[in-house]
Amino acid sequence: MTAASAITAVHRRSVVLRARPHGEPRASDFSVVEDAVPVPAAGEVVTRTIFLSLDPYMRGRLSDRKSYATPVQIGETMTGETVGEVIASGDPGFAPGDIVSGARGWQTHTLSKAASLAKVARDAAPLSTYLGVLGMPGTTAYSGMTDIGQAKAGETVVISAASGAVGSVAGQIAKRAGARVVGVAGGPEKCLFVQETLGFDDCVDHRAMDLRAALAAACPNGIDVYFENVGGAVQAAVFPLLNPFARVVMCGMVAQYNEQEFPPGPNLGFVVAKRVKIQGLIVSDNAARFAEWRTLAAPWVKDGSLVYREDIVDGLENAAEALTGMLRGRNFGKQLVRVGPDTL
Ligand SMILES: NC(=O)c1ccc[n+]([C@@H]2O[C@H](COP(=O)([O-])OP(=O)(O)OC[C@H]3O[C@@H](n4cnc5c(N)ncnc54)[C@H](OP(=O)(O)O)[C@@H]3O)[C@@H](O)[C@H]2O)c1
Repeated sequence: MTAASAITAVHRRSVVLRARPHGEPRASDFSVVEDAVPVPAAGEVVTRTIFLSLDPYMRGRLSDRKSYATPVQIGETMTGETVGEVIASGDPGFAPGDIVSGARGWQTHTLSKAASLAKVARDAAPLSTYLGVLGMPGTTAYSGMTDIGQAKAGETVVISAASGAVGSVAGQIAKRAGARVVGVAGGPEKCLFVQETLGFDDCVDHRAMDLRAALAAACPNGIDVYFENVGGAVQAAVFPLLNPFARVVMCGMVAQYNEQEFPPGPNLGFVVAKRVKIQGLIVSDNAARFAEWRTLAAPWVKDGSLVYREDIVDGLENAAEALTGMLRGRNFGKQLVRVGPDTL
């Protein structure tokens, strides 16, 4: 049997966008469709998905609001990074059995241009880490801290969504620089993890009463670097505590992603008075950081000095509900979907 006839014997499942959500996305905004596994033409590669990454930016792709990236269209397969195994290749650079990252889609099997894929070593690190601590979220934390935050020894750094994929790494990078690091997370269990397991100096529960007072008590010398992941009430509590010449890494504002209307903006007069630097970040702007971070961080993952936590749901059909859960803070660590087994 040829490779092509072997793979057309299998069906693939894809999650497509059925309707644009208003507010929180629901499972009924998506549907699962089946077709034949594609056969690669020259320069194309077919992978079977092992892990699919779920990320907060996906909420933006569900909306047709103008943004830095094109939204997913109705009827189109949801976008998302995957790690998978090559099962058929029309490109001499890839062979069945290779493990690759870079294929995109909420799908059991993905057809990609070979040029968009990168091989990853099966045994160098757990395959899931290429989507989390060693992948896009880890690189985001590294870029934000390196290019904007620039935490120094003795400074106070505050990280929101501190137990999450980006925040957990951002805080550990700031600790390595010698800063005092305070996390903000939702609930006592996440706060305990941030302090005890990730090694942050303190962690404030944003769901507890009087966030402002708790944060002020945790930051007696004010805040020199704020790594912004959530916006909303947490941002409102952080901004008055910023020190002169503080840096704010505007990485994301997940608390607002389901909002239909943008809330009234903050009063930014303090930015002038305190000469605060506030800068936005899109991780893909500096592509070189991805390889740089992976080279730097892979040994730390291996020796256990860079701690990461993953929250893995099984089955592509559960991806939509897991995305909704993540936007509510139900995930505890990097949210992934196991679509297929590591090895067949
Ligand atoms: N700029 C870029 O290039 C870039 C790249 C990657 C990620 N990001 C951004 O980085 C941020 C973190 O992403 P991630 O992948 O690491 O996600 P994550 O932290 O693993 O998961 C999202 C977390 O956000 C918190 N959250 C959700 N709703 C909230 C609310 N209303 N108030 C406060 N916290 C809330 C929850 O944590 P708690 O339970 O602790 O509240 C939830 O677990 C997001 O804003 C994302 O868009 C930006």
